[in-house]
Amino acid sequence: PALDLEAGFDRTIEADQRIEPRDWMPEAYRKTLIRQIAQHAHSEIIGMQPEGNWILRAPSLRRKAILLAKVQDEAGHGMYLYAAAETLGVDREELTEKLIDSKQKYSSIFNYPTLSYADIGVIGWLVDGAAICNQVPLCRCSYGPYARAMVRICKEESFHQRQGFELLLAMVNGTDAQREMVQESVNRWWWPSLMMFGPPDDDSPNSAQSMAWGIKRHTNDELRQRFVDMSVPQAAALGVTLPDPELVWNPERKAHDYGEPDWDEFKAVIAGSGPANAQRVAHRRRAHEGGAWVREAAQAYAEKQAGVRA
Ligand code: ACO
Repeated sequence: PALDLEAGFDRTIEADQRIEPRDWMPEAYRKTLIRQIAQHAHSEIIGMQPEGNWILRAPSLRRKAILLAKVQDEAGHGMYLYAAAETLGVDREELTEKLIDSKQKYSSIFNYPTLSYADIGVIGWLVDGAAICNQVPLCRCSYGPYARAMVRICKEESFHQRQGFELLLAMVNGTDAQREMVQESVNRWWWPSLMMFGPPDDDSPNSAQSMAWGIKRHTNDELRQRFVDMSVPQAAALGVTLPDPELVWNPERKAHDYGEPDWDEFKAVIAGSGPANAQRVAHRRRAHEGGAWVREAAQAYAEKQAGVRA
């Protein structure tokens, strides 16, 4: 019977159909999904911090309302993703513990500080742009609950990306100081955005198996290339320079050649020594511990209601 189950799983993957929570799946498939979905959920939750930093300093009521809504969307994305992970038999509480004990990763990008308001625009344009590039193919992920969560998340992400671009358009049409602020921000965020796609393919231990299982649909380098090609005309429209002297159109490949990101920096950031890792995790831990009374009260209320009904 075990062989039948495995053959059934293989047939589903082969036919490009979806695996659902009650279907049999190899333990390694389940573990890989938990790893990726948890990391993705943590990224959404930690990703609220760099932008939350500017809510009280947004330059107008309109910008404040937009930023608040965007940060709230990210909390929502984290919740859908934790719920998707729970269909694989883990508990949200357990995942949160792993995050605040630094036992599970979240995206490297959120370990960089937001130093100016232009960073809010650049995060929308580049960081959310990179996120969309990486996540649209995940709407076709072989695991049903993850794929379905990605559909709504991607719609909201593309709205986020456009608000970032619109913010930057307003700034580049402003004063010289505003234009300089945008360029300075692009200089800081370009390379970390390229690193969001993960290590180069020849140094990506999980890619081959995740592609074979239909968890990932493209390699890290394929998506990075797509992002570079998409960003170049957008940078031109904004009148900003991408800080890569090797960036040039290659007519033979019909794609841009570009420079090598600093992979030592990437490794240091995911190992925990990026500019803001300690601060991000400490903040998340404080928020979790500060919310303990809410969880306890909700639990007590649920128990009381169950008692009333019994
Ligand atoms: N930041 C932190 N860790 C990373 C990053 C990154 N940018 N890229 C790769 N890693 C980690 C991987 O998690 C893996 O570590 P682990 O084995 O300890 O878990 C290791 O580096 C090696 O990388 P890969 O073998 O390439 O790992 P994987 O196949 O999981 O690919 C990728 C990484 C592309 C990020 C994939 O997990 C993915 O597509 N995830 C879903 C999208 C996501 O998480 N986005 C979050 C940021 S976007 C946002 O929230 C706005």
